[in-house]
Amino acid sequence: MTLFTVARNAMRPAYLPTMAHKVYLRLRHGHDRERKAAEGWAGAHAQDMDAWGRRADPALWEESVAFARTLETSARPTVERVAAAGVDLGGPAGIELLYFLTRALRPAVALETGVAAGWSTAAILGGLAANGGGQLYSSDFPLFRISHPERYIGCVVPPELRDSWSLHIKGDRRNLPEILSHVPPIGLSHYDSDKTRNGREYFLHRVRPHTAPRHVLVMDDIQDNLVFREHAATYPAFRVFAYQGKYIGLTGPGLPAVERGSR
Ligand SMILES: C[S@@+](CC[C@H](N)C(=O)[O-])C[C@H]1O[C@@H](n2cnc3c(N)ncnc32)[C@H](O)[C@@H]1O
Repeated sequence: MTLFTVARNAMRPAYLPTMAHKVYLRLRHGHDRERKAAEGWAGAHAQDMDAWGRRADPALWEESVAFARTLETSARPTVERVAAAGVDLGGPAGIELLYFLTRALRPAVALETGVAAGWSTAAILGGLAANGGGQLYSSDFPLFRISHPERYIGCVVPPELRDSWSLHIKGDRRNLPEILSHVPPIGLSHYDSDKTRNGREYFLHRVRPHTAPRHVLVMDDIQDNLVFREHAATYPAFRVFAYQGKYIGLTGPGLPAVERGSR
């Protein structure tokens, strides 16, 4: 990251308010205050994702794992090109989990925050395509540490899946009101953008009135703070998975139905 790149991205009028808000939150709240307690809680509740998927619906889990493998193989040239350019787009979300939930819930509308390379995007779009319909709305903010970051957003998303995708890149606080002003109830949401307490609470507060009766929420990096734990306590069920050195949380009124395998 060069200071020049960050400063140049920050000075673009469309991005300045989001950048300023990020800096404010960092200075005001810090990042790691709740991490130890959150990590302890997540670790104590974590279960094996693969075993969970096989129990919920073995055939669908197998399909989901196969989708993840195919995507990883087809995206390899892109990943290598991006890496050769010295660009780090961060780690992927749980591809097989998101594909599985999209197939199990068959949402008319899915919502995600945090696109970057687009692994989660591709997983949800792949599930929607297999379902034969549905629309994904994505909220992102270009990674300000890299030069001309817009060109990398969703770079691993296969072109044939993009017709059902609506991408917004002005940051959650501007994108979500725009998206929520016109979408039908959301069946599946995935949170993987601003990892602060403030950012997560804003999302949960804004999105909850727009969720479908069988909605499921997937939240990434729940070890950062206690927001997922607090939110999960308002539902009858939640799950926590350890995934590539972090924790993913799953909750919502639709979770028991997913676990019964009732598609
Ligand atoms: C961990 S990456 C997302 C990875 C992605 N889900 C995947 O599976 O490939 C986080 C993304 O969230 C974006 N982001 C950070 N703060 C944001 C905000 N306030 N609003 C929207 N996006 C934000 C980052 O720029 C980055 O693109």
